[in-house]
Amino acid sequence: MQESFPDTLIDRFQRRVDYVRLSVTDRCDFRCVYCMAEEMTFVPKRDVLSLEELQQVGQAFSELGVRKIRLTGGEPLIRNNIMSLVTELGQLPGLDELVITTNGSQLQRLAPELREQGVKRVNVSLDSLNPRKFRHLTRHGNLDQVIAGVDAAVAAGFERVKINAVILKGRNDDEVVDLVEFVRSRAIDLAFIEEMPLGNIVEHDRELSFCSSQELRDMISARYPLQAEGEPQGHAGPARYFSMRDSPSRIGFISPHSENFCHQCNRVRVTAEGRLLLCLGAEHSVDLRAVLRGPGYSLARLKHSIVAAMDIKPERHYFDNRGEPEIVRFMNMTGG
Ligand code: GTP
Ligand code: 5AD
Ligand code: SF4
Repeated sequence: MQESFPDTLIDRFQRRVDYVRLSVTDRCDFRCVYCMAEEMTFVPKRDVLSLEELQQVGQAFSELGVRKIRLTGGEPLIRNNIMSLVTELGQLPGLDELVITTNGSQLQRLAPELREQGVKRVNVSLDSLNPRKFRHLTRHGNLDQVIAGVDAAVAAGFERVKINAVILKGRNDDEVVDLVEFVRSRAIDLAFIEEMPLGNIVEHDRELSFCSSQELRDMISARYPLQAEGEPQGHAGPARYFSMRDSPSRIGFISPHSENFCHQCNRVRVTAEGRLLLCLGAEHSVDLRAVLRGPGYSLARLKHSIVAAMDIKPERHYFDNRGEPEIVRFMNMTGG
């Protein structure tokens, strides 16, 4: 008998999961200090989901009512032949939004094609506008290349371009207003992110470098008064947005430490190895790769595993200790 599936994914806390973040590679051309160690061991290529497997995952989720897929990494745009996956996912009938989070290094080249293939919005990580500091924070990044990438994205006409900035005390907290001015000059959005304790990092002491969203809001408000926007609608993420009187740019704050947003969590993640992670800040997961590569694979089996996984989605993360990571995986496994 044919198995019937629900048309929406609901977890035990009555949260609807309609957003999936797919990490297409754990590799990256940068080594941001809050994301990776200097020397990283990456997953062997054979353990990473193939583009065909990623397509199956995207299709299964979309048939289960997921409306938004975000491609992440590592750096998603350095995955070989990534545009063929973008094209396939862009054609999934149930999907409202195919979006991407990138470090911007390849955007100058790929922005027009991404837009043509149906990517609606791009988020670009950019933590500093000072070339030397940018190089320190990313260990390998070239600031001019990333700014050219942002400008290529603006020119390509995405519905929204958003900059993500992780602010670390003593490193780039003096650039908060400069970053606001950078997005204002381009009429794009900006989200400030509190650093999360993922992976064991020795480069800096997370406790000492922590900057709360409230501190940042105070810094910005002194120059540009911020008006809080109402409760987020639709596929809204964890960011709380503010607007400015004299600019279309919105300024968001993602505050997993200081303003918990787990009660309205609408998302799950798939790591590059095909592990379905039910929460960014917990280890609850289901091995979708084992299903994809198992005997008698079918899309129905994959959907069955995904539906069953909803029962282990945790209520919230426990990033209670800003210093020591409870989660040892680095952020490049999940792409944020
Ligand atoms: P929008 O679609 O623009 O709302 O993006 P987004 O915030 O979902 O995605 P983005 O890739 O820009 O992520 C920005 C930051 O938010 C990353 O550092 C993520 O780790 C963080 N973030 C996204 N979802 C969650 C979540 O469920 N829990 C926590 N703690 N952080 C999250
Ligand atoms: N804490 C918070 N944000 C992080 N990112 C990477 N590592 C961390 C961390 N430990 C951010 C990147 C990117 C987003 C997807 O995740 O800057 O913008
Ligand atoms: Fe690469 Fe993004 Fe991690 Fe930086 S934060 S190392 S750009 S995956």
